[in-house]
Amino acid sequence: LITEVLHRVASHPLVYDAIQRMAGCRTVLDRLSPHLQVEPGESILDVGAGTGLLSGVTPSAARYIWLDCDLDKLRGFRAKGIGALAVIGDAVQTCMADKSVDYAACVAVSHHIPDERLDQLFCELSRMVRRRLIFLDAVRSGGFVSNLLWKYDRGGFPRADEVLCEHVSRYFEIMKIERFTVYHQYLLLIAKPRERAVL
Ligand SMILES: C[S@@+](CC[C@H](N)C(=O)[O-])C[C@H]1O[C@@H](n2cnc3c(N)ncnc32)[C@H](O)[C@@H]1O
Repeated sequence: LITEVLHRVASHPLVYDAIQRMAGCRTVLDRLSPHLQVEPGESILDVGAGTGLLSGVTPSAARYIWLDCDLDKLRGFRAKGIGALAVIGDAVQTCMADKSVDYAACVAVSHHIPDERLDQLFCELSRMVRRRLIFLDAVRSGGFVSNLLWKYDRGGFPRADEVLCEHVSRYFEIMKIERFTVYHQYLLLIAKPRERAVL
């Protein structure tokens, strides 16, 4: 019951953003920013966008598109006054057309996706993306702090670094890998969609 109450409080957009700041989201955004410097007019679909924190490090001339399944997050995003297209939908089965976006960012989302839907997520991302996927998530590292943080995380499916790389590489060619630590260990992948999945 206590965990459920904490989750409810934490899902309020203002509380959520404050928690993200405490959890080191500034460092995470700084790591992502160089990979988001796309050309004017190019589109970036932010899949599982939350309150749209990523839009703050996306060039203003890019076409940022917000996508999430949570209406509270949409309210939080809209409250920021960002005039971007916002889509409510499931990341594993969206309404977006094939190859309809230049880039997709999928940040801190995979640990919310159960095993039986994980391949569907990467399949769907590769279907929509023309150029690159920018993938980031915290991994299960086994450390004390990491275990504690995962215990209270809403997402119930933290995975090891190599498991995530293996699933991504079925649908994408991984071009670049970065790893860094802010409480959690993070995996950042820049990947190009494959023409055919390697299963
Ligand atoms: C930890 S938050 C990360 C939010 C944002 N990407 C960020 O880095 O601030 C995870 C987000 O994924 C969204 N999410 C989880 N499962 C999803 C799904 N199947 N489809 C779309 N969004 C999903 C949640 O609603 C939540 O906003």
